[in-house]
Amino acid sequence: MPALFPHPHLLGIEGLSAADILNILDEAEQWTAFNRGARKADDRLHGLTQINAFFENSTRTLFSFEIAGKRLGAQVSNFHPAASSVRKGESLIDTALTLNAMRPDILVIRHEANGAAGEVAGLMDCPVINAGDGQGEHPTQALLDALTIRRRFGRIEGLKIAICGDIEHSRVANSNLRSLPLLGAEVRIVAPLCLMPAVVPEGIAAFQDFDEGIAGVDAVMMLRIQKERMEEDFPDTLQDYHTEYGLTRARLARAAPDAIVMHPGPMNRGVEIDGDVADDPARSVILEQVELGVAVRMACLDLLTRERRT
Ligand code: NCD
Repeated sequence: MPALFPHPHLLGIEGLSAADILNILDEAEQWTAFNRGARKADDRLHGLTQINAFFENSTRTLFSFEIAGKRLGAQVSNFHPAASSVRKGESLIDTALTLNAMRPDILVIRHEANGAAGEVAGLMDCPVINAGDGQGEHPTQALLDALTIRRRFGRIEGLKIAICGDIEHSRVANSNLRSLPLLGAEVRIVAPLCLMPAVVPEGIAAFQDFDEGIAGVDAVMMLRIQKERMEEDFPDTLQDYHTEYGLTRARLARAAPDAIVMHPGPMNRGVEIDGDVADDPARSVILEQVELGVAVRMACLDLLTRERRT
C-alpha cells in the first residue's frame, strides 16, 4: 500500500512539501493511463459518499471532480447552492453542518470567500478539498498544471515559467506561485501594475513588459481577467488589454522555441490569448491540462480517503 497522505485536507499548496506534491503527481500518472483505457471503473471508493458543493460557477473543475469520483466508484452528489436553502439565507456554516450531518466521506468545495474551504474543513468530520476559495488557492489546478509541465518536459526543475495576466485576483496564480518554485522552477509574473499582487512573493521576478517577461521561457501560463473580483472597471477596453497583454503568435516567438502555452480556462479568446495560439496543437497544452485534471483529482480523492478506507 503506498504512503498515506500526511494531511487531513487539501486546502492549498501552502503547507505541502515538495514530496507531498510529487506523491500526488506520481499517483496521478497511473490514472492518466487508466483514463485512456476503454473501461474506466475502479472500486476503491465504493460505498463512499462524495459531495461536490460549488458556490461559484465551474465547468472543468466541477465536472472533473464528478468524473474522478465516479471512476473510483464513489457515490457522487452535487449540491447546487442556487437551488438550495442558501437562497433562503442559510449561512455557509449552517450549510456545511447540514451536509456534514449526512455523513459524507469527502467534500469538495468552491466558494467565493477567501478561506471558505478552511473554515468549512474545521466543521466537517471528513476530508475537504478546496476547489477554489475566492482569491485564495486552487490547489488541484496547480497540481494538474505541474503534471502537465512534467509530462511535457520530463521535469519541472530548472524550467522558466511565466504566469501572465490577472495575477492579483487569481487563486490559480497563488497556488502555482507556491508549487512551481517548490518544485524547482524559475517563476516570473507578468502583469500591468494594477493586476500585480500587492506583495510579490520572494524569489519571483515581476515584469510589466510582456515581451520582456516571456523572453526565453519554457512555459507561458495565461490567466483570464477576473472582472467579477474587481472593484473598479479595468481595462478601459479589452482591445487595449489585448494589445499590451494578449498572447499572440508574434509574442510567443519570444519564448523558447519549444515553449508550451497553458491556460486554466475559461479563456477569453481575443483578450488574453489569440485563438490561433490556443488551438495550436504543437504549442498549446490547454486540453491536456483538462485531461490531466481528472487524473490529478482521482489521485487526490484516493489519497485523502485512504485512511478511512483502511
Ligand atoms: C479558474 C478558477 O475558477 O479559479 N478556472 C478553473 O478552475 N479552471 C480560473 C478562472 O476562473 O479564470
